Amino acid sequence: MTSHPPFPPLEVVVLAAGKGTRMYSRTPKVLHAIGGQPLLGHVIASARELGAKAIHVVIGFEGEKVQAAFSGQALAWAVQAEQLGTGHAVAQALPEVADDSVVLVLYGDVPLIRAETLKELTAQCGSDAIAILTVMSSDPTGLGRILRDQSGRPVAIVEEKDATPTQKQIRETNSGILAAPASRLRQWLAALTPQNAQGEYYLTDIIALAVADGCTVNSEVVEDELEVLGVNNKLQLAQLERHYQARRVRELLLTGVTLRDPARVDIRGRLECGRDVEIDTNVIFEGWVELEDNVSIGPNVIIRNSRIGSGTQVLANSLIEDSEVQSLCAIGPYARLRPGTQLADGAKVGNFVEIKKSVLGKGSKVNHLSYVGDATVGEHVNIGAGTITCNYDGVNKFKTIIQDGAFIGSNTALVAPVTVGKNATVGAGSTISQNVEDEDLSIGRARQRNIKGWKRPTKLNQ
Ligand code: UD1
Ligand code: CA
Repeated sequence: MTSHPPFPPLEVVVLAAGKGTRMYSRTPKVLHAIGGQPLLGHVIASARELGAKAIHVVIGFEGEKVQAAFSGQALAWAVQAEQLGTGHAVAQALPEVADDSVVLVLYGDVPLIRAETLKELTAQCGSDAIAILTVMSSDPTGLGRILRDQSGRPVAIVEEKDATPTQKQIRETNSGILAAPASRLRQWLAALTPQNAQGEYYLTDIIALAVADGCTVNSEVVEDELEVLGVNNKLQLAQLERHYQARRVRELLLTGVTLRDPARVDIRGRLECGRDVEIDTNVIFEGWVELEDNVSIGPNVIIRNSRIGSGTQVLANSLIEDSEVQSLCAIGPYARLRPGTQLADGAKVGNFVEIKKSVLGKGSKVNHLSYVGDATVGEHVNIGAGTITCNYDGVNKFKTIIQDGAFIGSNTALVAPVTVGKNATVGAGSTISQNVEDEDLSIGRARQRNIKGWKRPTKLNQ
């Protein structure tokens, strides 16, 4: 293959105007998610990896929703009001494309395309050469077939509906992804006519036009069929989700993470793992999650946007969200860490405990059945079973402060705002609405009365 120094600037055109009728959804097709990210997001991410000078997205059906979903990003939008075919769709973006660019056409509903594949493809495109990405399809039904001449060069693409019975025997199909020099692409698109079985402007017709113009048509055959599979229905969405997860899991395994069952873990975002991390079955990671060395995650755990420090154990059925957990902590089983939770080294949060927007100092423990919200808990504090911070009066939230070494007896209600001082002790069953000084014992419960020889009432007529 000839090389082209300096490599021409690359502009990507992503087709995303389709309605996605077979999704039976009010959400535009390209906004359905794989691995927690919209289909279109995956395509844009691959395009960015190529260092594209501009990314143009062609929208149509519910285009405003698509735009809104990517509002923070540097994208050029083109509207295709009527879906008159893939050639017409690309033409909508071309006025914004520079003449000296190479145009790479991607589909917003083909999410698993890898940047490496696209690099190989675009490397085969130049001012006098286009490059198409093809695939050997196990079931080519509905797809465009690649026609090659005796020397094996692609000469045309024929759509299924326009193909002869012989052409339909061809298994090599068009992925739809191609790269072409902008100036010539402009001319070819202008020459398209809708004289075909579907009455559409076919992008695929540019191949024959390029050949007629003496342009070289290069091709790259992608090995993994699923890499270029488009999503048209929920079945394909589910298949690609599994495939995507298998890719992610493979990366983890090959970098030393232990997964008890690679088929039962879901990564919906970014997951970073240190050494000797172990992950049990049915674990879901969302957003950006970091697991440091020697972390172990039990079964049925969900972790979202959190960092888990080295040596920490997260036991079964726990849910951790927007939290920061330091080293050697123990969490769960059945613990819930809500946003804003910070656990210092060696802290323990046990079963049926909910923590929200609170700091737990070093070595502090909340082992059973408690709610700790809007609290600052010092070091080596023990919070007994059933303790509740009453942080909300129905309108406002108030803070609870528990200082180092304090001991809160079981079934205590801490009515915020309130402070329990250093090494103070609160007797079980207390309702604490006033501050407790350092070192003091506070008991806020009805005094026990014992009545000697008490006779229970007896039933009459017996
Ligand atoms: C197209 C190709 C076919 C290829 C197949 C791979 C053409 C004529 N045919 O088929 O050779 O094997 O993809 O999946 O190009 N779109 C628009 N506007 C339109 C039409 C389509 O934005 O007017 C978008 C769709 O949203 C979709 C993509 O283009 O993302 C492909 O459209 P689709 O209808 O799925 O593909 P076909 O035209 O059937
Ligand atoms: Ca299609």
